[in-house]
Amino acid sequence: MTIREILKMGDPRLLLIAKPVQSFNTREMRTLIGDMFDTMHSVNGAGLAAPQIGVDLALVIFGFKQNQRYPDAQPVPETVLINPTITPISDAEEEGWEGCLSVPGLRGKVPRFARIRYTGFDEAGQVIDREAEGFHARVVQHECDHLIGKLYPMRVRDFTQFGYTSVLFPELDANEDD
Ligand code: NI
Repeated sequence: MTIREILKMGDPRLLLIAKPVQSFNTREMRTLIGDMFDTMHSVNGAGLAAPQIGVDLALVIFGFKQNQRYPDAQPVPETVLINPTITPISDAEEEGWEGCLSVPGLRGKVPRFARIRYTGFDEAGQVIDREAEGFHARVVQHECDHLIGKLYPMRVRDFTQFGYTSVLFPELDANEDD
């Protein structure tokens, strides 16, 4: 079990376009994915992208049954998604609160496509092709943004809806390093 350091906003490695994964099911990839789950679970994250631990690859993980950082969120299947593409199913957008492990202590309201189709590969190279809505669609868009150097504050349109978690959501665990 290896918990890796999560890079914070300001680190130029978070601004890169991630490189596509070329070989699947390698020992290096299994170690990377294991470390990413250990790291995400250690801070109760809903998702994590490889660039957030300084690995320049198009690979994200996400999913939970219940998440204390997002107590109202519906469960999202635990997923490894490699070389993803996202296609909106309609132009409809939804605003919702997001945080990011690379932007600790803050939350912002971010517009996202309400319904998406996403495709990619799992760690064994099997095709993933799903439709998603609600928080599931949001977390996929958030994580995949990390692969094109976008952090959620760059998507915030109304900066009156951006602030400290401890002020906006005092009911959330005050000890969490959001
Ligand atoms: Ni994030």
